[in-house]
Amino acid sequence: MIFIDKNKLEDLAIFGGMPLFEETLHVGRPNIMNREAVISRINQAMDRHWLSNDGPLVNEMEQRFAGFLQVKHAIAVTNATIGLQLAAKALDVKGEVIIPSFTFIGTAHAMAWTGLKIVFCDVLPENHTIDPEGLETKISENTGAIVGVHLWGNACQIDTLQKIADRFDVPLIFDAAHAIGSTYNKQRLGGFGNLSVFSLHATKAINSLEGGLVTTNDDKLADKIRLLRNYGFVNLDQVAMLGINAKMNEFSAAMGLTNLEEYDRLRAYNHELHAAYRNGISGLNGISMLMPAEGEDHNYHYAVFEVHDDASIRRDMLHRILVAENVFARRYFHPGCHLSPPYNLSEKRAIFPVTERLSATLLQLPTGLQMDLEKANCLSRLIRFCLINGAEIKSRLLA
Ligand SMILES: Cc1ncc(COP(=O)(O)O)c(C=O)c1O
Repeated sequence: MIFIDKNKLEDLAIFGGMPLFEETLHVGRPNIMNREAVISRINQAMDRHWLSNDGPLVNEMEQRFAGFLQVKHAIAVTNATIGLQLAAKALDVKGEVIIPSFTFIGTAHAMAWTGLKIVFCDVLPENHTIDPEGLETKISENTGAIVGVHLWGNACQIDTLQKIADRFDVPLIFDAAHAIGSTYNKQRLGGFGNLSVFSLHATKAINSLEGGLVTTNDDKLADKIRLLRNYGFVNLDQVAMLGINAKMNEFSAAMGLTNLEEYDRLRAYNHELHAAYRNGISGLNGISMLMPAEGEDHNYHYAVFEVHDDASIRRDMLHRILVAENVFARRYFHPGCHLSPPYNLSEKRAIFPVTERLSATLLQLPTGLQMDLEKANCLSRLIRFCLINGAEIKSRLLA
């Protein structure tokens, strides 16, 4: 298909022109990598009549992920939200938990749902992960745990966070939902802190339809997570503790295992798209792309842009224009968690300047197999056109 560049305002779909893309492009559109391998594994599971309860595919997937993530234990669970809850339960966290205000609402909900009180902390402007200095000011005798989020696959300042956690003797959990394959000090994320939790949701870099992994190097914690995810059963009849059902099924494992085998290909693909986007907007005023830390590996799953205050149009206007062109860009995470129910209901609402700025300025663009270099270049040219002609577009849209 040939994409026709926009040369005048009337070419924009928002002003009546033809949308740039015929099919809607999505952020986090599931990648279907190797259909035959998935189906063959699903058939094997059906032939075995073993569909859940610690099946062979789940076991194989756990072992492969442990190797890939360079960690002793990778425990498959139904999703990362439940994984975070198992982490809090396994560590017997009580009282307050400190989490970044700029994250997916699920980080907060998972913790609040286990009865913990949420204390928010702002994030760093450079990579959008929890601000260690801000964190220190939030710690009190009620603090039961710290949760860092490796947002967009960018590692938190792990060494600093670990020092703080050690000094105050509180556990450190990482929400690594976005971070499969990314590294810190050249080591894959997964073995840092007490426990890490990855998401294998359909929209993630490696997906198992729905799913998650709890990872750790601590044998005792791993045993406890395994018990917790299966009602606390130690054998067929005996229950040792209050558990829940957080088991992954075999079809999900078939998908997760197959997608893990395809990870290098997907990472390389997304890396190229990143480079195309970066080149496409280079030299343009008012917009920048978030880059992974230098020298570290990254999954390149998210293409995150910031539309700065000095841009000729604001993020929300650019977003409207892109949606009209069938680019379903996203404004993650808007608003910040502290501004969403139930967390915004407290009388004295805290202000988190970095979170509030990011939630007003960030825009995520599509990546993955639905894209190719031509589409990425074409989309970059559209953004360039919008920002160069921003003043005119704005006056027309606001007229
Ligand atoms: C940062 C973060 N944490 C947790 C989750 C929850 O993951 P899941 O959908 O696997 O429960 C997500 C999902 O998008 C997320 O983005």
